[in-house]
Amino acid sequence: MAILGVNIDHVATVREARKTNEPDPVWAAALAELGGADAITIHLREDRRHIQDRDLRVLKETAAVPINLELACAADVVKIACDTKPHQATLVPERREEVTTEGGLDVVSSKSKIQDAVCRLKEAGILVSLFLDPDPRQLDAGIELGVDAIELHTGAYAQATLIHDASQTERALATLHNAAKKIRAAGVTLNAGHGLTYRNVKPIAKIEAMHELNIGHSIIARALMVGLQQAVAEMKRLIS
Ligand code: PXP
Repeated sequence: MAILGVNIDHVATVREARKTNEPDPVWAAALAELGGADAITIHLREDRRHIQDRDLRVLKETAAVPINLELACAADVVKIACDTKPHQATLVPERREEVTTEGGLDVVSSKSKIQDAVCRLKEAGILVSLFLDPDPRQLDAGIELGVDAIELHTGAYAQATLIHDASQTERALATLHNAAKKIRAAGVTLNAGHGLTYRNVKPIAKIEAMHELNIGHSIIARALMVGLQQAVAEMKRLIS
């Protein structure tokens, strides 16, 4: 059975909207653990738009489950990762103007920069994962770097399910199955994520040897919907 890494970046996004101290992603991590999260995933972006250095530091001290830190191949965040030592570091591409991580890493054209980050993280004793599109050329290049894991970008599959395009969904799923086969054959741990929801997760969870699914937006969106009624009722009680 695949393990679940809960991405709590959106909790920090709400906090940063007011530059205040709530909601605290550290609380969210504890609640996610209570719900059965097997890992906590956070992305320390170079622009610090949501997760802050303090969040990583406190989570490292308090989380009872492993931390999967997403980061770009930038020297300063790689240094923070090496100093903090999360269980796993997932290297992702980062563009300031993007709303979320839009595609996988381009290992084919940025191999030496990625290799440098991989080496530094591995020397620090951190498991290294690469976030890659299910593209055989990128997978081959990633596998050559000797990483511990590859997280397959499920965005194209997720988009196909969102628009209810059955044949596009089948094609995207077949592409993910082929990519998973390549990763398994190389003896590399298979992870996946991006755009996974309560409606589309099952076929991805069923992929042979799937180790970890990283899911954020859909879980945080659901949490708002299942929690808002109680939050309003608590405020009503105080007012009355
Ligand atoms: N995996 C990676 C590498 C990501 O960058 C993200 C988004 O931060 C996710 C998984 C989670 O994606 P979503 O929020 O769409 O579930």
